[in-house]
Amino acid sequence: MRKLQNILITGGAGFIGSNFIHYLFGQSSAEGNLFNDANFTGKIVNVDCLTYAGNLESLADIEAKFGSGVAEADRRYFFEKVDICDRPQIERIFKQYDIDTVIHFAAESHVDRSILGPEAFMKTNVMGTFTLLDVARNYWKKEDGSLRDDVLFHHISTDEVYGSLGETGYFREDTPYDPRSPYSSSKASSDHVVMAYFHTYGLPITLSNCTNNYGPYQFPEKLLPLMISNIRDGKNLPVYGKGDNIRDWIYVEDHNRAVWLIVNKGVTGEKYNIGGENEWQNIKLLHKVIELTAAQTGKKVEDVEKTITYVKDRPGHDKRYAIDCTKIKTQLGWERKMTFEEGLLETVKWYLKNSEWINNILNGSYKQWVEKNYANR
Ligand code: NAD
Ligand code: DAU
Repeated sequence: MRKLQNILITGGAGFIGSNFIHYLFGQSSAEGNLFNDANFTGKIVNVDCLTYAGNLESLADIEAKFGSGVAEADRRYFFEKVDICDRPQIERIFKQYDIDTVIHFAAESHVDRSILGPEAFMKTNVMGTFTLLDVARNYWKKEDGSLRDDVLFHHISTDEVYGSLGETGYFREDTPYDPRSPYSSSKASSDHVVMAYFHTYGLPITLSNCTNNYGPYQFPEKLLPLMISNIRDGKNLPVYGKGDNIRDWIYVEDHNRAVWLIVNKGVTGEKYNIGGENEWQNIKLLHKVIELTAAQTGKKVEDVEKTITYVKDRPGHDKRYAIDCTKIKTQLGWERKMTFEEGLLETVKWYLKNSEWINNILNGSYKQWVEKNYANR
């Protein structure tokens, strides 16, 4: 039986990680607390070095309700500003909190940035993952040298490791890896290291590969929050190439419910695909986002449509991603709860309502990065 009591979450100040922490503490960001079914009773240690993508504002409510805002004896949330490549600090954290589970979200996650500066991706995604695995292997060793079986290392990965699809077909768990960008190659490498630690050392691991997530707290360099905030601000809407690339979209809490299910019931040593079964061509999705955002902001759809700007394509832009998630559905009984209609509208409303959250990012150090790198848009 897995203990699941002292959980180390890496990258908890990022998009998916912060939603995951909300979900585990029963503070679902979905309207009406639709997804509060985690039934988690333990403690969370969030390890995040707060890169440009890490944002403690996304966890202010959690800190107040479960962290420093409550009496020490009631405390269930701890934040550690630590780099996952910093081995002595990671060793200290395992010991101090007696970690029995790792759920590893931390990564450099943006494909465009990986093209501009791949080094950070190799460091964090490959060496950081290796450091965590190796510390876990040592900390979870029993006196006879074998590893505990009540512990788990769950690695969060992406469908991008499988490469690019044509018009037909789906990525399955046994699809050979074929990463095309520095980002996806670094994630593919980390997946291989995770599997190697299972086969070589018997480290109890599970692994999941998910499609494009959408929902609250996503950094506004990614397609959906970027387009929503640009529509709000009357800025151009940059579409790469012809806008005919296809992505499969899943609501972030449906992804997180799948992760928690794997952590609870997944078979050690197995990998699971997670998908939205919800493919959209970028340009068609943008028309939908324009329609929803215009309706919420009182703008005219035809005026907003005029701000669509076709820009230079992303080098090596993967054409299509689509996941076959039959395994997690049939073997673990996972199903999505959010429809795309509902989830997209809720997401648009969330970014418009939480304008302070997004403005703080847009007016911070990210502003200079945009000016430097996106000057030609
Ligand atoms: P994100 O960029 O929003 O957040 C990443 C977090 O990791 C940030 O808080 C950042 O500060 C932290 N971090 C980065 N480097 C670190 C380091 N060296 N040490 C400690 N913390 C560090 O990313 P996200 O979109 O939330 O993605 C989370 C995970 O999910 C990643 O592993 C990503 O590859 C994977 N994934 C993302 C998607 C998606 O659509 N966003 C889909 C599938 C898989
Ligand atoms: O598939 C899972 C992956 O989804 C994750 O592993 C990554 O961490 C996550 O960032 C995401 O990668 P994408 O490259 O698919 O996401 P992004 O939001 O950057 O782009 C989505 C699509 O929209 C892609 O085809 C590129 C296009 N795009 C993106 C931006 C930012 C544009 O046309 N214009 C833009 O300005």
